Amino acid sequence: MVEVTGVQRGLQDVVALESRICFIDGKEGRLIYEGYDIRDLAKYSTFEEVAYLLWYGRLPTGDQLSGLRGRLASLRELPSALAERIDSMPTTAAPMDVLRTAVSELALFEPEETRPGPSSIGGAQRLTAVLPSIIGQFHRRRIGLSPLRPRPDLSAAAYVLYALLDREPTELETRCLNVMLIVHADHELNASTFSARVTASTLSDLYSAVTSAVGTLKGPLHGGANERVLDLLEEIGTPDRVEEVIKAHLGRHERISGFGHRVYKVEDPRATILREWSRRMGEASGNLRYYELLRAVEEVVHREKGLYPNLDLYSGSVYALMGIPHDLFTPLFAASRVAGWTAHVLEEYQDLRLIRPSAKYVGPTDLTYVPIAERT
Ligand code: ACO
Repeated sequence: MVEVTGVQRGLQDVVALESRICFIDGKEGRLIYEGYDIRDLAKYSTFEEVAYLLWYGRLPTGDQLSGLRGRLASLRELPSALAERIDSMPTTAAPMDVLRTAVSELALFEPEETRPGPSSIGGAQRLTAVLPSIIGQFHRRRIGLSPLRPRPDLSAAAYVLYALLDREPTELETRCLNVMLIVHADHELNASTFSARVTASTLSDLYSAVTSAVGTLKGPLHGGANERVLDLLEEIGTPDRVEEVIKAHLGRHERISGFGHRVYKVEDPRATILREWSRRMGEASGNLRYYELLRAVEEVVHREKGLYPNLDLYSGSVYALMGIPHDLFTPLFAASRVAGWTAHVLEEYQDLRLIRPSAKYVGPTDLTYVPIAERT
């Protein structure tokens, strides 16, 4: 028997497996997907290209990329039984709850003839194609838009905006949405990816792994932080209140969403990219309010706590400037991270070893069982 000695709370600094997909240099603030720097991918690439990179381990040729685009577009349509199920959900439901339930139910309603193998790249592509449709199916009904159509003419980025807001993006918005999807697509063994890999490591199927991941992403310490940042900005209201509100939160020992990171000890490179996009989108829409408030929040949090912004600080402001409601920010995170989750699950199947850490037992061992009638 292996004796359990030290405890790495939160599995901090534990190296649990080998992966070729994503590398984070937390000291230098670098993020690499399959060898490529996130700054280059955000500048030159598209979401479909990055998804290809994560799944196949190399950048696609032009033909391979157009093949993948076509395939993803052809996999967008929801099974009609699932669309009906989503339509029967309460319009007051949290979209992340709808997404988690619908991903799980998708496995029940996939038509037999098109059902991808439970561990195949086809499953990865189906899930990546369909997540925006699930979110759109729910959101369009609750705000009274016309029924969702698969729109195979649209790129992944353009389809997101059509599905949610029933409009087509401008050129700047298309680029911006691509950047949003790219920077959220993967991040090594973050909590949701880890939970997907744990599920896959039991030889469970891709749909189950992604269902686990959606539930994990929802938490405010992970993907849910982006929605909370906008709540904070609403609470702050005007720049003159930044100092007072932030200090009040810190004084109550509350965490400021959008700051701090388990791995980055310097600024998260994704925050650097999104700060710039928050400014660009603010300028384009003539509304720099979010950008200016966030800059002021950054200044106070850094001064008071020495913390740097993470991915979630600026992402919500970018979505909000496009008119996307707050409670869809985390579902959109999922709609991008699903590319990374599925790449990791497929990698897990290739080098499978049940993930099962140990706990250091700190309870008693020698208690005498007392029959219920004799307990006080
Ligand atoms: N606001 C205030 N204090 C913070 C914050 C924060 N955002 N983040 C860390 N701290 C403080 C902690 O209170 C702790 O202080 P203490 O030692 O005085 O108790 C210290 O910094 C270390 O914090 P840990 O919790 O040990 O750091 P950990 O690595 O476990 O946490 C986490 C990382 C969960 C991301 C944390 O920074 C946090 O809660 N941030 C806010 C939520 C958030 O933005 N999440 C998104 C993360 S990125 C993503 O998932 C896409």
